[in-house]
Amino acid sequence: MADLEAQKQRAALRAAAEVADGMLLGLGTGSTATYAIREIARRMREEGLRLTAIATSSATGALAVSLGIPLRSMGEIDQLDLVIDGADEIDPALRAIKGGGGALFREKIAAAAAVRMIVIGDSSKPVETLGRFKLPVEVHPFALRSVQHQLEALGAPIALRSRADGAPFATDQQANIFDVAFDRIDDAGALARMLEAMPGVLAHGLFIDLVDTAIIGTEDGVSITNR
Ligand code: A5P
Repeated sequence: MADLEAQKQRAALRAAAEVADGMLLGLGTGSTATYAIREIARRMREEGLRLTAIATSSATGALAVSLGIPLRSMGEIDQLDLVIDGADEIDPALRAIKGGGGALFREKIAAAAAVRMIVIGDSSKPVETLGRFKLPVEVHPFALRSVQHQLEALGAPIALRSRADGAPFATDQQANIFDVAFDRIDDAGALARMLEAMPGVLAHGLFIDLVDTAIIGTEDGVSITNR
C-alpha cells in the first residue's frame, strides 16, 4: 500500500527547497502544508534564512508562531513571493479543488496575490477531471438560504458542512460551507463564473489559473509539473 504520509513529506520538502532568503511567503493549510511549514522553519533555524509570511488559517498561524516564523497580516500586503499549499484535487492543466480543510477564502486571496504558487500533495491528488471531491463553497451566513437555493438549481447534491457535534462548521471568517457533489466538472471555468455571480458566495474551491507548479510525492521521489 502507498505510504501517502511519506509522499506528502517528499513533496513538501521539495517545495520548501524553493524558498529563498528574504521572501515573503504564503503558508498554506492542511496536513501537507504543515510538513512544508515545519521544513521552512527548520531552514530558517539551521540555514539562517530570513523570511516573513502570512498564514491562510488560524491553525497555520498558530503553527507558524510556535515555530518562530514571523507573521504579517495579509490585509496590508499587495504581493507574495511564493505560496506553498496543499490541494484536494489537481488536474493536468493545474486546475485545483481546495478547501477540504475549510480555509479556501484565505487560500484563494493568498494564491491570487502570489507571484508563484506551488501546490503539493500525495499521489491521491492528481485527477483527469475535477469533481469527485465535493466542491466547497463558502457562504456568508446572511445569504445562507438564498445561496443554497441557487446552488440546488445547479442540480448537484449539496450539504451544509457540520462539525463533529452537528453544529454548522464556521470558517475563520465565521462563514459557512456548502459541499457540492458534482462528481465530474467538465467546464470548471463556466462553473467558477456561475458561483462568483451568486451574491453571498465569499469563495469557492476551484483554483483556476492560479497554480504555477504541482509537486506530487511518489513512491520514491516527486513528480513536478509546471504551467
Ligand atoms: C484547506 O482548506 C485545503 O485547501 C487543503 O489545502 C487541502 O484540503 C489539502 O489538505 P491536505 O494536505 O491535508 O490533504
